[in-house]
Amino acid sequence: MQITVDFIRERTNNFQPEIGIILGSGLGELADEYCDYAIPYTEIPNFVKSTVQGHKGRLVFADINGKKVIMMQGRNHFYEGHSMQEITYPVKVMKALGVKTLILTNAAGAVNESFKPADLMIITDHINFTGSNPLIGENDETLGERFPDMSEVYKKNLIELAQKCACELNIDIKKGVYWANSGPSYETPAEINMIRKLGGDAVGMSTVPEAIVANYCGLNVLGISCITNAASSSSGAKLSHEEVIEAAANAKTKFKSLILEILRKI
Ligand code: HPA
Repeated sequence: MQITVDFIRERTNNFQPEIGIILGSGLGELADEYCDYAIPYTEIPNFVKSTVQGHKGRLVFADINGKKVIMMQGRNHFYEGHSMQEITYPVKVMKALGVKTLILTNAAGAVNESFKPADLMIITDHINFTGSNPLIGENDETLGERFPDMSEVYKKNLIELAQKCACELNIDIKKGVYWANSGPSYETPAEINMIRKLGGDAVGMSTVPEAIVANYCGLNVLGISCITNAASSSSGAKLSHEEVIEAAANAKTKFKSLILEILRKI
């Protein structure tokens, strides 16, 4: 990991980020607007490159509202064939660079029937249904414990802060449990019924591996989902990636102003 950290420090003139943000599908615009310096993942030692449409695949460094921020404009997913360890490597790099707080964002399907496309949901907790875990393998004791506690992955004070910011901005914010599947197939109606019965409010294919690793290595995590669609229902409506990207685009102004306000107050 040191090789990656040294490379980034050298390329960014020793930029010392305090906040990390991982930008999900269709939510990358923040990193276009606030970009002091950027490095494509393809140039970074040990980074895997993003293959998903709607994901740019670069690290962006910026001063935003007085905070030094490192952003991942596009993330890597388990369903691309990368290992859990590979997709969470950037989180460990952020920790080594000095990041204290990690804001995870994603596009997600609504399971909770009171949610609608373009709603934002603060993640209060998660259910890891990916069938794997990024901490499998030999443990690096310098990063965290073998059996890390996961009782408050998404920090209560950050949830309250995000809610306060949303309220001040007149954004009707939802809160709920994010359920992670491996993907890449979307869910069947029977699976959505199961997720609803088992306590999921939104469903997606990311975030949870990163949240597990971030919590394990002592980062404060805040998670925000952008609801892009009603998850599969027996109504027969079909779901496509284009629909997901389009709905995220509809929410992006709201999403950006919320993140900017959180950065101002954090
Ligand atoms: N399911 C899984 N992942 C998603 C969805 C969905 O409905 N929408 C956006 N990402």
